[in-house]
Amino acid sequence: MGYQWLQIDNISYEDNRMRIKINDFMMSYQEKGSGIPLLLIHGFPLNSDIWQTQLKGLAEVARVITPDLRGHGESQPVSGVYSMDLLARDCASLLDSLNINQPVVVGGLSMGGYVTLAFYHLFAKRVRGLMLIATRAVSDSPEAQANRDKMSAQAREQGSGAIAEAMLPKMLAPKTLVNNPILVEQAKKIMESTSVDGIIGDLMGMKSRPDSTPMLPKINIRTLIIHGKDDTLISMKEAEAMHSAIPHSQLQLINNSGHLLNMEQPEIFNNAVRKFLQSL
Ligand code: MLT
Repeated sequence: MGYQWLQIDNISYEDNRMRIKINDFMMSYQEKGSGIPLLLIHGFPLNSDIWQTQLKGLAEVARVITPDLRGHGESQPVSGVYSMDLLARDCASLLDSLNINQPVVVGGLSMGGYVTLAFYHLFAKRVRGLMLIATRAVSDSPEAQANRDKMSAQAREQGSGAIAEAMLPKMLAPKTLVNNPILVEQAKKIMESTSVDGIIGDLMGMKSRPDSTPMLPKINIRTLIIHGKDDTLISMKEAEAMHSAIPHSQLQLINNSGHLLNMEQPEIFNNAVRKFLQSL
């Protein structure tokens, strides 16, 4: 794919991202810190760069690992449907390749939250704690499914830039959009860099994802649910519904933040994660 790899065993290094052969593609990821492994999974149509302030701010308390899902960031694009199970299996393979056998804390934002729930469903024994960030448990309504098809067609015809343009107003709180041009630009750049294969793979995977609601009462580990009060993409009600259904869950609602709450309020977000890790 035109990448320049420096290959050492099956791990390759370039800039601060590392790359490793996972299943049928080259996956890139970022990693910092030591301690309990903390796997953070990005949402649609984003990449591991959304976790920059977590890589820096949580490295003292955890081994923070942030993959670029297939087709995102610097991970190779692969065509096909990216089911949430497939993405969860990619993350598990990354942990295997890093020889991480002990239980990990898994957190995911939005689509990353769907992948987190799939990861728990598939590999409950590997999970020490869950973080469900700006996400929901329910599957797509017929209307949402029709929108996935429309957006896929748009990605195919107009490319990633058009998708970034369409998603940007929903990614950040209305106030952030006006007051924080640097963050706006950063979010836009991240989305524009996602491959068309990645965008379509995600959309088709999200469209067909199962309803995770029946699993929620069976989650028997501590779960932190975090949501921005100004999230216009996924309503706070979804977070409250998950909190009611998951027995060992705590809910933290964050003021002045939208969908990308970890970027909009990094200090508050990181403090919540630190406290959660200490409680495990
Ligand atoms: C995300 O932010 O990951 C997605 O927009 C979630 C979704 O579309 O369901």
